[in-house]
Amino acid sequence: MLLRLLVLGAFVFRARCYFSEEKYPEESKMQPPTVVIAIIARNAAHSLPYYLGALERLNYPKDRISVWAATDHNTDNTTAILKEWLTVMQKFYHYVEWRPMDQPTFYPGEMGPKHWPNSRYEYVMKLKQAALNFARKRWADYILYSDTDNIITNPDTLNLLIAENKSVIAPMLDSAGAYSNYWCGITPQGYYRRTAEYFPTRHRHRTGCFPVPMVHSTVLLDLRKEGMKKLAFYPPHQDYSWPYDDIIVFAFSCRATEIQMYLCNKERYGYLNIPAKPNHSLEDDRLNFVHVHLESMIDGPPMQVSRHVHVFPKQRDLMGFDEIYLINLQRRPDRRDRMLFSLNELEIDVKVVHAVDGNALNSSDIKILGVDLLPGYYDPFSGRTLTKGEVGCFLSHYYIWKEMVDLQMDKALIFEDDVRFQANFKRRLLRLMEEVELAELDWDIIYLGRKQVNPGNEEMVENVRNLVVADYSYWTLSYAISLQGAQKLLNAEPLSKMLPVDEFLPIMYDKHPNEDYKSHFPNRNLQAFSTRPLLVQPCYYAGDPEWVSDTETSTLWDDDAVRTDWRGSHKTLKGSPPPEMLSAAYRDEL
Ligand SMILES: *[C@@H]1O[C@H](CO)[C@@H](O)[C@H](O)[C@H]1NC(C)=O
Ligand SMILES: *[C@@H]1O[C@H](CO)[C@@H](O)[C@H](O)[C@H]1NC(C)=O
Ligand SMILES: *[C@@H]1O[C@H](CO)[C@@H](O)[C@H](O)[C@H]1NC(C)=O
Ligand SMILES: *[C@@H]1O[C@H](CO)[C@@H](O)[C@H](O)[C@H]1NC(C)=O
Repeated sequence: MLLRLLVLGAFVFRARCYFSEEKYPEESKMQPPTVVIAIIARNAAHSLPYYLGALERLNYPKDRISVWAATDHNTDNTTAILKEWLTVMQKFYHYVEWRPMDQPTFYPGEMGPKHWPNSRYEYVMKLKQAALNFARKRWADYILYSDTDNIITNPDTLNLLIAENKSVIAPMLDSAGAYSNYWCGITPQGYYRRTAEYFPTRHRHRTGCFPVPMVHSTVLLDLRKEGMKKLAFYPPHQDYSWPYDDIIVFAFSCRATEIQMYLCNKERYGYLNIPAKPNHSLEDDRLNFVHVHLESMIDGPPMQVSRHVHVFPKQRDLMGFDEIYLINLQRRPDRRDRMLFSLNELEIDVKVVHAVDGNALNSSDIKILGVDLLPGYYDPFSGRTLTKGEVGCFLSHYYIWKEMVDLQMDKALIFEDDVRFQANFKRRLLRLMEEVELAELDWDIIYLGRKQVNPGNEEMVENVRNLVVADYSYWTLSYAISLQGAQKLLNAEPLSKMLPVDEFLPIMYDKHPNEDYKSHFPNRNLQAFSTRPLLVQPCYYAGDPEWVSDTETSTLWDDDAVRTDWRGSHKTLKGSPPPEMLSAAYRDEL
């Protein structure tokens, strides 16, 4: 029986071959082109976990990628981190070439790790050339160069660039300022020239893939194109007279071989760090990177660390405050998470306090708490009175002042949960508080973020840099407060004559323009100051109804019938600077 079945089976099989010549009409798919990724790392321990995390998340088959990795002249842990990653990852990639160099740790004539003497430019050109030679020798289709402080957060970047079919192409990377990895103009001497196209491109007011005279930092080369055979990083072209700089040498080589560079800004691809100044330390560079990282969490997609390198937990502290509070509405875990993550990156310890949710307060709760409206109060923008959101917000701040007094805390720092940190936040705040201490300044509150209502000249504080006497201001984004200040605010018994907390504070330092409101608070002797420039700005969460619509927030405080949000005031919408303005404000400070 079995034999008969086998015979029958053989017959059926033969019959099929006989009747159909074409057994597999579908050709199998082409494999993706082969890519070499060139990693040239120096003193990059702070950014490498994110850089490598981004590489390993690229949506591209790793068996079609070879990694060429070199590292040299390090004074930090770069070699160990790269080695750890390559050891784990090499089994996934087609091939890994590893070129570490332990000694020396400096170039001759180098004044610091961020200084570029000619010897350093030359060495980097040679490394890039070596990677190019490697890729050519292995008949790779593409080579991707990407500096180790360029974080490609969009996993489709490689596919998107390949699809453009250009010889030399770069993804436009975002930074915490105007800086990016392209030029729109170049002088006849090979220097940067600012042109009218730069900002519209940088802000994505025009999007596409554009011919430009310079791309750098992250660049994809298509080695299959015939013209690419003559391209070189080193030695510079025989006619070369432009500055001795690896990116300019390469741009010149493209020109000499008639290859057009392209920049793509159709999508968000990732971030890059603003280059450090020659006298910067590695710590300065790290802080710049932390800032780009925090910004990436707002504009997204965020950076993520590699799963395959060890990252040490941050050492957080209270910066000399007795407590640092983060006021967060429990139903906004997204904001809490971003703030906790940011504060952790800044190495700042914080205590989360659950905001009083205006939404959950009903009129009898409000009565029990002894809350009553300041007679005659109305919001200057909408003409309505207090919202439940504003009651909740006031109570949240109030309970912190009360805790400070109960526990006799010297000084505390308060953050709301929609804060965007300026560069070097921690270092600047530490320096400020040190100078405040040295100057023996008598202070009650110091705004770190606010909206100045009448921008004008506020008096500078003597012997403390970047501090002014506060004039009328809105917002309570973040402020430092002393025990004396908290006591004064409680003594004013504000619950029974409530108005929004950001109107209450200016009354208490006697800079509120409304005499009627002030008359309810006889002791208006709060000593209020503000940093200048501000150390935080509000963060506009995309798609957040609070910032785009007033309908949810305009509910009156004693009406139980309608939902209300935490904040209420229309004025939060007014006069908000666009993010690019924010970054311009502190660039000079860096
Ligand atoms: C350097 O990095 C390696 C690999 O991540 C790690 O095991 C080691 O503890 C690090 N050393 C220092 C001093 O950070
Ligand atoms: C890519 O560009 C080359 C010219 O450099 C052209 O021959 C080729 O057809 C293009 N491929 C695609 C898919 O557009
Ligand atoms: C670096 O040099 C600039 C002037 O070129 C100076 O203003 C700045 O303070 C210096 N920074 C450091 C960290 O030495
Ligand atoms: C208000 O809410 C509390 C619970 O938070 C509830 O006990 C009370 O009955 C509510 N009052 C009204 C008037 O809805």
